[in-house]
Amino acid sequence: MVTFVLGDSLGEELAQLLDLPVLPIRETVFPDGEIKPAFLNEAKGERGILLLQKKEKESINDYLIKFFLLARKAKELFSQVIGVMPYLPYARQDAVFAEGEPVSALYVAELIEKNLDMFITFNMHEHRKRIKELFRIPAYNLFLFHELAAHFQDFDPQQTIVLGPDRESKTFLDDFCQSWPATKMLLQKTRDNKTGEIEFIYQPTNFQDKDVIIVDDIISTGGTLLKAAQIAKQLNAKSLSFAVVHSLFGDQSLEILKGMEPKKIITTNTLANSQYKVDFVPSLANFLQTHLLNE
Ligand code: R5P
Repeated sequence: MVTFVLGDSLGEELAQLLDLPVLPIRETVFPDGEIKPAFLNEAKGERGILLLQKKEKESINDYLIKFFLLARKAKELFSQVIGVMPYLPYARQDAVFAEGEPVSALYVAELIEKNLDMFITFNMHEHRKRIKELFRIPAYNLFLFHELAAHFQDFDPQQTIVLGPDRESKTFLDDFCQSWPATKMLLQKTRDNKTGEIEFIYQPTNFQDKDVIIVDDIISTGGTLLKAAQIAKQLNAKSLSFAVVHSLFGDQSLEILKGMEPKKIITTNTLANSQYKVDFVPSLANFLQTHLLNE
């Protein structure tokens, strides 16, 4: 099957790993903010793998509309289109929290899947809805926490606490510790829907002589991780580190964490930033190779 990778620099990386041709993308932005993304030419093939990473200064809405426009165009050029959004926007609004609200996660999935035959993302915010409840096409949510954990091999698991900020982070901790038997602990987070204020409930304990790694899927304002870090400090943690997949504001989100003087901050490039340690593209290549390209 003639397969092209459609994308920017990460598309080139994926194409190299899979030994496939790449169809690059160019983009025009008009003065009123409209965008016109385009493929460099009208190459045609049997299968296109569209991979777009949100750039650091790009708005999440521009990213979404760019993906939609290019997927729609790809559908004209290729018989089968696989879409990869390393970070799935709007996934956190996966329920109606107050009367009149949209279930944005579901509606965005409806928009995305229109032009795709398959969808792949990483660590989607699966709090109330699983990926298969959002999409009607085959959809895959790949996990990266075990890859983040590989950057803590110099820590003694017997002396390490891996801390998740809410009940939903249990699956993150399980993946993080899958081949690294550190002690897992969950806080219980509540957020005031109106003020956004976060509170934590937890069992009093002592982290004396322990290195604490706080693990979460997303850092946005940094409020969650900072508050969890303050608790770990109050409980006498010897050191603090952060392991987070999606840095919503790129470097800016990560800078917020530096005030806590962490031993390590480990993140990925699912959203553009200059400090990532885990590149998701080899995992993606591996998944595609195993599930598709060997058919
Ligand atoms: C929430 O459920 C997520 O897992 C993250 O904890 C949250 O999105 C982080 O947001 P912020 O950095 O603004 O606290």
